[in-house]
Amino acid sequence: MTSTNQWASKWQLDPTLAYLNHGSYGSVPIDVQQVQDGFRLQATRDPNRWFRFELPGLLDDARDTVAKWFGVPTQHFAFVPNASQGVITAVQALVNQCSLVQATPHLVATSLGYGGVLHGLEHIAKFSKCNYSIAQLVYPTEIDADVIAERINASIADKKSNVIVVLDHITSETGVLLPVSDVISLVRAKHPSAQFVIDAAHSAGMLQQPLPIGFDVWVGNLHKWLCAPQPAAALICGSQAIADVMAPLSPSWGYEKGFPGSFEWQGTSDYSAYLSVPSAIAFQEQWSWAERDFHNRSVVDSGAALLRSAWGTQPHIDSGVEAPWMRMVQLPLIQPWTKTEIETVVQKAGKQLKAECMCMTVREKTYVRISAHMYNEADQYEALTTLPQLLA
Ligand SMILES: Cc1ncc(COP(=O)(O)O)c(C=O)c1O
Repeated sequence: MTSTNQWASKWQLDPTLAYLNHGSYGSVPIDVQQVQDGFRLQATRDPNRWFRFELPGLLDDARDTVAKWFGVPTQHFAFVPNASQGVITAVQALVNQCSLVQATPHLVATSLGYGGVLHGLEHIAKFSKCNYSIAQLVYPTEIDADVIAERINASIADKKSNVIVVLDHITSETGVLLPVSDVISLVRAKHPSAQFVIDAAHSAGMLQQPLPIGFDVWVGNLHKWLCAPQPAAALICGSQAIADVMAPLSPSWGYEKGFPGSFEWQGTSDYSAYLSVPSAIAFQEQWSWAERDFHNRSVVDSGAALLRSAWGTQPHIDSGVEAPWMRMVQLPLIQPWTKTEIETVVQKAGKQLKAECMCMTVREKTYVRISAHMYNEADQYEALTTLPQLLA
């Protein structure tokens, strides 16, 4: 597949491939990769000097720069490896705080939440003796603030319990942009002390305002739309009171400093991805946010229109409530695909069609989820037109 895109050469993606799944895994631009390689070389030339004397200051500088970019105080910001670990870390810390004051927490997530995070919450609920509910939301219809808040409120039977809500900013499988600030305010109208941990895996880089109003803890990947190397994510506390109770899952050196110093040293490790986040920000900012939004939105909308026209399917959701740079397109199938069939199709798409995408079956309907970043062009989505035939 030849792409006419003028920026694709800034990434090291396989040029024979239409990479249409940035929504699952982002690719690292060459400039950013070189910065990371530089840090790794520095580390390996004199590991003793690196870990003892160079790395701590570099981590402080990187944290400062990235916190400023988000517009939050540095003392409210910590690097974590990824959204999954960050969300579970935050929830465990809030739950631990409840047990200190002998209160029973009530964890609430939604049925549109990320599978891995839901597993982590189940584990916390089991071993920390929390109440745990999943507010059921039906894709694609039950995604407005009133419905979401009503389902969350309905799942909390005991009005006096310490409520901890985990809410996605952009849902994982289904790519819906949830009205998080409104949900927070509506739930707090009934449960004023409800605490909100926002799983914002997709927000940094894609949303102009990645931080919603009223969050307690915000956790977002930097290795997705911002194109930092993996693993790099941010955990941001919404207040000093929350920062005071945040602790890593496995405390180590720096524990006595409290947040964020307690997150800085998780043993000997490769911290070069965190150090490279400022270069990923600089890379993105060669385009204004409006330029990126215009390009990615137009490309992904054209890709969705192209596939719908090839398949004779219709839009099933208003694109205004979808993640700006991702679209779900319904496949023209008589029988929905099973999980195993989806695995087969996605693998075949990569090998035979030379196109990477993500498929999912939600409530008996099967969709392909496509994404766009600056390296994509609308004609690349043509590679997927024969996707429905891959199982034949
Ligand atoms: C909402 C949401 N949460 C968590 C994750 C997991 O991200 P990671 O694997 O970087 O932890 C994803 C992945 O896309 C996601 O969409």
